[in-house]
Amino acid sequence: MLKKVSKLNKGLKGEIIIPADKSVSHRAVMFSSIARGKCIIKNFSSGADCHSTLNIFRQLGVNIEFIDAKTLSINSDGILKPSFTSLDAGNSGTTTRLISGILAGQNFDSVIIGDESLSKRPMKRIIEPLTLMGAEIDSVDGHAPLTIKGRKLHGINYSSKLASAQVKSCILLAGLKAEGETTFTEPYVSRNHTELLLDYLGANIKTDKNSVTVKPSILEAKDINIVGDISSAAFFIVAGLIVPNSDFVIKNVGLNPTRTGILDVVKRMNGNVSIINKHTDSGEYVGDIRVQYNDSLKGCIIEGEDIPRLIDELPVIAVLASQAEDQTIVKNAEDLRNKESDRIKCLVSELTKIEVNIKETSDGFIINGKTKIKGGAELESYHDHRLAMSFYTAGLIADQEIGINGFEWTKISFPEFEELVQRLNG
Ligand code: S3P
Repeated sequence: MLKKVSKLNKGLKGEIIIPADKSVSHRAVMFSSIARGKCIIKNFSSGADCHSTLNIFRQLGVNIEFIDAKTLSINSDGILKPSFTSLDAGNSGTTTRLISGILAGQNFDSVIIGDESLSKRPMKRIIEPLTLMGAEIDSVDGHAPLTIKGRKLHGINYSSKLASAQVKSCILLAGLKAEGETTFTEPYVSRNHTELLLDYLGANIKTDKNSVTVKPSILEAKDINIVGDISSAAFFIVAGLIVPNSDFVIKNVGLNPTRTGILDVVKRMNGNVSIINKHTDSGEYVGDIRVQYNDSLKGCIIEGEDIPRLIDELPVIAVLASQAEDQTIVKNAEDLRNKESDRIKCLVSELTKIEVNIKETSDGFIINGKTKIKGGAELESYHDHRLAMSFYTAGLIADQEIGINGFEWTKISFPEFEELVQRLNG
C-alpha cells in the first residue's frame, strides 16, 4: 500500500495514550502460559507480532480468551502440549527466539516457521548457547524453519558477544527448566523485561550488573498491566521536536531505564522533553512525556552502551538528527543490519532520496544537519514497520509530499500510528 504524507501546517497539540509495549506483551503471554493459574492481562498490544505469540500458545494447548480487544484471560496448568502443526511466528524475531528457549526443554518436538523476512534473520545466536545446554535444533543454515527436539537441558555459564535481550531471554527461559543454574552475561545491559517479569511471577532470578542467573523455577500466574511502548512513543517524540509549534503529552509510556536511551539522546541534543507522573506498574516504570518543539537541536555521538537502550529507535533518531545542527554519529550498531530489514542500508538509501545528508558506515551512520527535507519521492519500507513510521515522521516536515510503499507493515507493532498522528493534528 502506498501511503502519502504531506507537511503539517500547524504544530501537534493535545494528548495521546500510547498503546502497549510489544516486548512486554510478548513476555506477558509467554510467561503466563508457562505459569500455573489464572490471570488477566490488561492493555495487550494490537500489533500482529504479539498476536503471533498468542496464537502459538493457544496451539500449545493454553487457554487464552479475549475479554475485550486489549484484555486477555489466561488459564494454564503451566504444562504445554505438543502441536502437530508448525508454529507460525510470522514476522516476529522476539517470538521465534524466546519460544525456542521455552520449547528446547519440553518433552516434545516443535517446528517454528515465519515469513520471508523472519526466515532471513540469524538464529545461530540462540542455537549455539541452547546447544551448549543440551538442546537439539535443526535449522536451514542458521535460519528458520527451526525444528526443536525437546530434551532435558542443563544450566550453563554463557558470555554473549551481543547485548541482545532476545538471546538473553531465550537462555533464561531455557534455564527455568534446566538442571542446575544458568548464568547469562552480556557486554552491555539490554532490555530487562524478562528479568522483571520472571521475578514478578516468582522465579528464582538474580541480576548482578551485566549478568543474570536463573535457577529452575515454577511460575505462579499474576495479573499484568502492560505499560505503553516507548518505541512507539519515539515517533511522536521526534515528531514533536521537529514539527514547529508542537506541544503535547504522550501518556502511559513505559520508562524502564533499559529502554529510555532515546530520552537521554534527546537531552544531549538539546531537545525539550520532560517526564510527568512517574510511577510503577507490574514491575515496570511508567509515566507521561511532554514534548515541546524548540529550534536549537544539536548533533551528538550515539555509541556503546547507548545502543541496546535505543536500538529500535535509531531509524527515527536519524530523522531527528537531520534537523539538528552539526554531526550525529551512530557507532557500534551493526546489529541493525539483522532487524526486519538491513536498517542501516535501507535507511540510508531511502533518506538520501529526500535529501537527508546521511552516510552509511559499517556499524551505523553519520548525519550532517541541519537539512531541509525535500520530499517529492517514493520511499520503500522494505516490509519494515519501523522504517515505514520513521519515513512518515520525516514526511510531516518535508517540503513536498512523500510516498511510502508498504505502509501496511505498521500493523506489525503499531496499527494505531496514523490515527494518533491525526488526533494530535486536530
Ligand atoms: C527485543 C529485543 C531487541 C529489539 C526487538 C525486541 C525484545 O532485539 O530490537 O525489537 O523484545 O527482546 P535484539 O535482542 O535482537 O537486540
